[in-house]
Amino acid sequence: MKALLLLGGFGTRLRPFTINKPKALLPLVNIPFISYQFELLRKYRINEVILGVGYKGDEFKKIVEMGKKFGLKVYLSYEKKPLGTAGGIKNAEKFLKGKEPFLVFNGDVLANFNLDKILNFHVEKNAYITIGMVKVSDPSSYGLIVTDDEMKIVKFIEKPKPEEIITDTINAGVYVFNSEVLEEIPSGIEVSVEKETFPQILEKGKNIYGYVHYGYWLDVGTIEKYKKGNFDLIEGKIGLLYQKTDEKIEKKENVLIGNNVSVEEKLILGNNVVIGEDSVFKGKVIVGEKTFIGKKCLIENSIIFENVFIGDECIIKDSIIGSSTLIKNNCEIKASAIGDNSYITQFSKVSY
Ligand code: GTP
Repeated sequence: MKALLLLGGFGTRLRPFTINKPKALLPLVNIPFISYQFELLRKYRINEVILGVGYKGDEFKKIVEMGKKFGLKVYLSYEKKPLGTAGGIKNAEKFLKGKEPFLVFNGDVLANFNLDKILNFHVEKNAYITIGMVKVSDPSSYGLIVTDDEMKIVKFIEKPKPEEIITDTINAGVYVFNSEVLEEIPSGIEVSVEKETFPQILEKGKNIYGYVHYGYWLDVGTIEKYKKGNFDLIEGKIGLLYQKTDEKIEKKENVLIGNNVSVEEKLILGNNVVIGEDSVFKGKVIVGEKTFIGKKCLIENSIIFENVFIGDECIIKDSIIGSSTLIKNNCEIKASAIGDNSYITQFSKVSY
């Protein structure tokens, strides 16, 4: 079976971190986001994956090799200009054609979908398309899906007005498509699967079913949700790839930790990290490889990418610090997102 990951979006809501890297390659607990999707596919014996890429597409070349570690054959389907979610599927037609149904994933969803159950449901219902759905407490900013008692979809409501919120089930960004669906999408133009293809196919009276996923699900589309995804993984809420441990400090190779460093809850360190003496870590802190943290720092609930230098006596709380950033002594950074390659002068105070 084949799966297509849609990865061609600009990821504007995750700027500044998506200025240099596509969303799929941002680290989640020091592992590129896309690895979690690869792991899910491996777990369910899906061995061929097509990456629908555009923005920063060349960055994905290294990922083709990485896929082999997960037992996957990885193909790249390039879009010269973004073709939208349906356009991205159509663009990958040459990889997906055949008799078998195929899976499609939005590339920014962190979830432990049970793909066996979704695929069995698709066959049992004799569906043309199956859409994975989740229930959320506040559906107002999502695309709503209304089903009948048999889970057949009767209506899509995009950007609902308050009086239109008649269900709590939303599109979870995973689909099973019969291969004929490819013929329903025009080629070479921008088309949205959610706003155009699905409603048009429903209008034609074809069987579209909704399968409710009750496990973990997060659309990692904003800075806050990106942070939440990292911390949820640490808490063991997803149980994919990263396995929760009881160790307060989890470290890779060549890590140097100075005297009297204290860790209140969890500190995760990549390779070649150095931590100066008397530094204090509170809540959950993730530090990427080749990063240096000085003496007497206080770091709390933050994510620090790779190759960062943090001087002495800095306070960093509820923040994300981008790669190759230099933060000089005595800085205070709170609730902020500092982009890659930033330079922060000593005694700076940064707060959002
Ligand atoms: P924002 O700019 O912050 O809205 O993020 P985004 O560009 O990722 O858009 P959105 O979250 O709506 O996209 C959902 C998924 O579809 C993401 O995994 C995107 O990478 C992907 N996607 C969006 N537009 C395209 C496109 O034109 N082509 C392809 N191949 N994928 C797309």
